[in-house]
Amino acid sequence: MKSVSPETFAAQGGGLIEPQWGDIVPPIHLSTTFERAPDNAYPKGIVYARPDTPTVRMAEAVLNTLEGGAATLLLGSGMAAATALFLALERPAHIVAPKVMYWGLRRWLIETAPQYGLETTLVDTGDLTAVKAAVTPGRTRLIWLETPSNPTWALSDIAAVAKLAHAAGAAVGVDSTVATPVLTRPIEHNADVVMHAATKYLNGHSDVVAGSLTFKAKDALFDRASAVRRDIGAILGPFEAFLLMRGMRTLHVRVRHQAAAAQAVAERFAKNDRVAAVLYPGLPSHPGHDIARRQMTGGFGGMLSIRVKGGETAAIRTAANVKVWKRATSLGGVESLIEHRASIEGPTSPCPPDLLRLSVGVESVADLIADLERALVAN
Ligand SMILES: Cc1ncc(COP(=O)(O)O)c(C=O)c1O
Repeated sequence: MKSVSPETFAAQGGGLIEPQWGDIVPPIHLSTTFERAPDNAYPKGIVYARPDTPTVRMAEAVLNTLEGGAATLLLGSGMAAATALFLALERPAHIVAPKVMYWGLRRWLIETAPQYGLETTLVDTGDLTAVKAAVTPGRTRLIWLETPSNPTWALSDIAAVAKLAHAAGAAVGVDSTVATPVLTRPIEHNADVVMHAATKYLNGHSDVVAGSLTFKAKDALFDRASAVRRDIGAILGPFEAFLLMRGMRTLHVRVRHQAAAAQAVAERFAKNDRVAAVLYPGLPSHPGHDIARRQMTGGFGGMLSIRVKGGETAAIRTAANVKVWKRATSLGGVESLIEHRASIEGPTSPCPPDLLRLSVGVESVADLIADLERALVAN
């Protein structure tokens, strides 16, 4: 099965046929413990379910192929995945991370990570001069990127950052949740680790919280991150791994549809006189458009934001007026979501107060456009 494209491998859930009954869909393995052979060895390679478990392994194999990595770890959430990687860094550790990124992780890096001996500098990671100035060779262990990044969908040039990171002895980790392996495979751009909030597009149905780390090499950083997952018991549960595997089977179809629909929504609202700006990497007006064209293939993602004329009040009223879009946090599911982002990110966020974040699902694009147009008129 390894000779086929990642798309085929994922669509067939890794192509495994269950040996006893011939199941096309692999069963969920719930056992927490595994038999030791009379020669005292574990012939199947799994001992106990906190370090490793069969259903998780199957889902990891699919994601590993999608990302083109050497090894993948699944964890209980996107936050668990990212923080496991940060905690696995050699100390003393300095991290360079984007100013504009998933707010929960930014908050953890600034407020909590120092307690674990991790120091972070936030920069505009789209500005290579700023990234270079923030790196201290010998002390900076990791440059963290999120591309496109929440909630303005700013782009970072993974290959260019990897070049300067590697010259300084640092690794590059990429939160590729929004791009998905359908649109960007960061390891092909020389990233060392790819992280996903698998809660989002990889699962795709808003019914699993999960996270992943895929490593370019099965190296010391991989070993330390595996040890963090094992020791704090952060592995994904078998039910969640099963659902994630089911979600990944349709990943390519969903993401391609969502990216095309988001492009259509962006182009339409760029011309709406109640909208001050549309932030979407697929629009030539977006500051990251050129990098996106080089780095993303097959579309610019399913996420965009609009800035509503009339400020925060008009933005919140617009969100209140929608009927088809659902007012909720999160992203990447089959249902379209709208969110006044500053309300959730709080006062320390760089998110503009007039910004509505849109996660485009798989509904009729005409319904989505008509609903948002009505909501803007009534705001
Ligand atoms: C880009 C991005 N990274 C990380 C996370 C954290 O993922 P989780 O909620 O699965 O911990 C999120 C969640 O919204 C996200 O959007």
